[in-house]
Amino acid sequence: MVRPDQLIIFGASGDLTARKLIPALLHNFVAGALPRPIQVIGVSRSERTSEAWREGLRSSLPPALAEAFVDFAPRLHWVRADVAQRAQLQHLHEVLDRLAGPEPDTVGRLYYLALAPQLFGPVVACLDAEGMLTCAPDAQQGWRRVVVEKPFGTDLPSARALNQELLSYLREDQLFRIDHYLGKETVQNLLSFRFQNTIFEPLWTRQHVESVEISVCETVAMEGRRGAYYDGAGALRDMVQNHLLQILALIAMEPPGSLQADDVRNEKVKVFRALRQIPAEQIARDVVRAQYAAGPARDRGYLEEEGVAPGSETETYVAIRAAIDTWRWSGVPFLLRTGKALHKRFTEVVLNFRTPPIDLSGQAPTDACPLRPNTLRLRIQPHEGVVWSFLVKEPGAGMEMRMAELGFDYADLGVSQIPDAYQRLLLDALEGTSTLFLRGDEVEAAWSFIDTIRAGWEATDAPIHTYPAGSPGPEPADALFHGCEGSWSYGP
Ligand SMILES: NC(=O)c1ccc[n+]([C@@H]2O[C@H](COP(=O)([O-])OP(=O)(O)OC[C@H]3O[C@@H](n4cnc5c(N)ncnc54)[C@H](OP(=O)(O)O)[C@@H]3O)[C@@H](O)[C@H]2O)c1
Repeated sequence: MVRPDQLIIFGASGDLTARKLIPALLHNFVAGALPRPIQVIGVSRSERTSEAWREGLRSSLPPALAEAFVDFAPRLHWVRADVAQRAQLQHLHEVLDRLAGPEPDTVGRLYYLALAPQLFGPVVACLDAEGMLTCAPDAQQGWRRVVVEKPFGTDLPSARALNQELLSYLREDQLFRIDHYLGKETVQNLLSFRFQNTIFEPLWTRQHVESVEISVCETVAMEGRRGAYYDGAGALRDMVQNHLLQILALIAMEPPGSLQADDVRNEKVKVFRALRQIPAEQIARDVVRAQYAAGPARDRGYLEEEGVAPGSETETYVAIRAAIDTWRWSGVPFLLRTGKALHKRFTEVVLNFRTPPIDLSGQAPTDACPLRPNTLRLRIQPHEGVVWSFLVKEPGAGMEMRMAELGFDYADLGVSQIPDAYQRLLLDALEGTSTLFLRGDEVEAAWSFIDTIRAGWEATDAPIHTYPAGSPGPEPADALFHGCEGSWSYGP
């Protein structure tokens, strides 16, 4: 008999559950992708019945999923509990055992902590005290796993303390730290594209690549009450520490021995450890921070937003010229940028290949090539795909050159909708595959790089620039390209 899995969502009355987790589960259910039958147990302090929870979710679903929800709904159950109170977990434990049937110890349980991060430690401590985490290493049945959402710490000391706390109750193989960017189809493709093809890898070195740009540009600003959360975080901690550094690691890492979790994560950690720490005296040269001001896209600037402290120095934009001290990447700048209230929403990686040493077309007044012929653009969102650019001869007399492109678009695969990141991540967590989740040392190594930048800001009077909402960002960020050809990509 196939035992069901139990997915227990703590914080199930919240935004993440309704907007991401339930739709992702439902898509997997419709696609027949769930590895086993599933029971979903929603938990929070709110008093409600299972029927009321189902009805609330149904009304928030997109119409395309409403029909499938009819079959899925009976698998959803509500339990009221303050999960930071051990006594209240006893009742939950009893309900889980009852739903599991005759042999509850053989049923796998995935506890998803869709909760504020300060609850991660106390909740895991209560689960442990109740005996709800006990399972053998690599158990095929009766496994117990915990998923924690971002942010994982706010700096290196807090991340280290959280790792120590959680790992005093769980083994590393039971702990799944999410960075949902790794669940994105196009981010996973960075690995496949590099390591399942032979033609790109020989070019993927300092001999051929002059610079690498990684951009996560957003048009959203501080909608609703988001300002209150964001003001305590900022672009560096909210986006660079996790999403941008994860993309950087996938672009810069050496080929892993396999796609097994530890092989991939070992290589990523090596990249983070090779990231050169930016000393305080270079912070203003290598890192540009800024806040949006009122502009074409918004009638108020960051400092006028609800929940933002008066005179706040929190950055809504950051651009970094990072260096990776490895044989492969020595001397190649990695230019990272992210910001809110920008001109376009897009995420992409651009490899700028070196320009030819001389210009044989004779168009340039100097020996320098007037155009950068070769870039490789990996579009993560939107218009997911890959674009190579190169020069071709303009037909006719002479040697006039023009840019041309070869492109691949995910839409050409006939896939109507690329699966959401949470679909893949939930499946992997249910299967116990942790390649797309973060290991503790990875998170700590990433924080170490970020903390040095923050310390540099605190130790110096590095300016906080402004940029008009709806613009491509502050002009001083262009200076990060010093010594290289080119400037920031404008996006698709
Ligand atoms: N929303 C997103 O898109 C998103 C994206 C990335 C990461 N995250 C992360 O995901 C986590 C959840 O985010 P969210 O946006 O869903 O937060 P949220 O909307 O504030 O929901 C959190 C839920 O936790 C419940 N809760 C609080 N204390 C509890 C306790 N002691 N016992 C049981 N339930 C408790 C609350 O429900 P009651 O008041 O009913 O108890 C609340 O509904 C956070 O760590 C966040 O940083 C969210």
